[in-house]
Amino acid sequence: MKKLLIIFLLCISVNVFGQNYDEAKVAAYTLPDLLMSVNKKKITTVKDWENIRRPEILSLFEENVYGKMPRQFDNIVFEVKGENKNAMNGKAHLKEVEIAVTSNKKTVRINLILFVPSKIKEPVAAFLLINNRGKENTSPNREVISGFWPAERLIEAGYAIAAFHYSDAAPDNEDTFQNGVLRLYPEQLSAGDGMKAVGAWAWAASRVMDYFKQDKDIDASKVTVVGHSRGGKASLWAAAQDTRFAMCVTNCSGNTGASLSHRRFGETIERINTSFPHWFADNYKKYNSNEKGLPLDQHMLLALVAPRPLYVTNASQDLWADPKGTYLSEKEAEKVYRLYKLTSSLPVSPPAVNMPFVKPPLAYHIREGKHDLTEYDWAQFIKLADNHFGKKK
Ligand code: GCU
Repeated sequence: MKKLLIIFLLCISVNVFGQNYDEAKVAAYTLPDLLMSVNKKKITTVKDWENIRRPEILSLFEENVYGKMPRQFDNIVFEVKGENKNAMNGKAHLKEVEIAVTSNKKTVRINLILFVPSKIKEPVAAFLLINNRGKENTSPNREVISGFWPAERLIEAGYAIAAFHYSDAAPDNEDTFQNGVLRLYPEQLSAGDGMKAVGAWAWAASRVMDYFKQDKDIDASKVTVVGHSRGGKASLWAAAQDTRFAMCVTNCSGNTGASLSHRRFGETIERINTSFPHWFADNYKKYNSNEKGLPLDQHMLLALVAPRPLYVTNASQDLWADPKGTYLSEKEAEKVYRLYKLTSSLPVSPPAVNMPFVKPPLAYHIREGKHDLTEYDWAQFIKLADNHFGKKK
């Protein structure tokens, strides 16, 4: 697995896929209009956005990109399997919760790791990471403390911090991705608009939200869903689908995450569908080398998060994820926030490296360095949450 990853990264660095990294070679393109309905009605009010255009855009993403999101299941059971009221030297209460969801006589189990600050007087806001890296990053025993999930820092800032491993929902492998959530929904596997791994990861985030709704320590109206890279594609899709998430962070999510596909800069749709055929609906493959045919682009996905705050990031060395196209995408999404009379303070041109813009509703930074999720990134997410939810403690 590690070997494969190294080969893949080498391929990217010597550009064997022939991807474009030259801004001068980005051909002119026209983005689908965020505020024009299929029936050519110009959308100028929140009412029309919510009743007409938003549902249309959600369907477009289901049909063409992420697949249908199943909403029904027979049963959900939450069981606290492990607990430590004195975790992190007494600073946190650890709960290890199994979320078992049953449908079609099959059960999928999502294992949630949750730290809640000790001695809280009222329910607290929480961050939930969709962990797409090694399980050690979100270790309940804290044998490994990594910047990918700096739980201690979040606790210190007064937030509950949670994570589940994405493989519980769908193994990240083209031969085995169906051995998770999709066991409950086998009909999705043969449908062109059937969800695959990214849909399953987002679905699992919503089941964690179901759990939060009944955990008295958590203020379920203040939950931020966070994802990095492929996990950041899933966090966006989760927040677009499930408006119970109060805030969304999409970190270095790149192609079919926050960046614009029409630019064909860095990773392309054909590339992503070829390297990861198990991520998106089969229908998405129609757009391999055919971005022009897409009835949508990723700015429309970002807009689905409105009016809730959204934090988008890039890293300076991560051209594969197209930082410029990511920023342009977020700027386009401003149009929908404007309908809600929410003014974005993002500058016209992309900000300089390590110059975060952290004011709600739209936040952005490009961190110096490589494709990663780091403690620096989290420190900015905390600022956005403090700003939006009101300072903790
Ligand atoms: C690959 C893939 C990206 C993805 C990234 C990751 O680079 O091409 O689309 O975001 O892996 O998940 O780290």
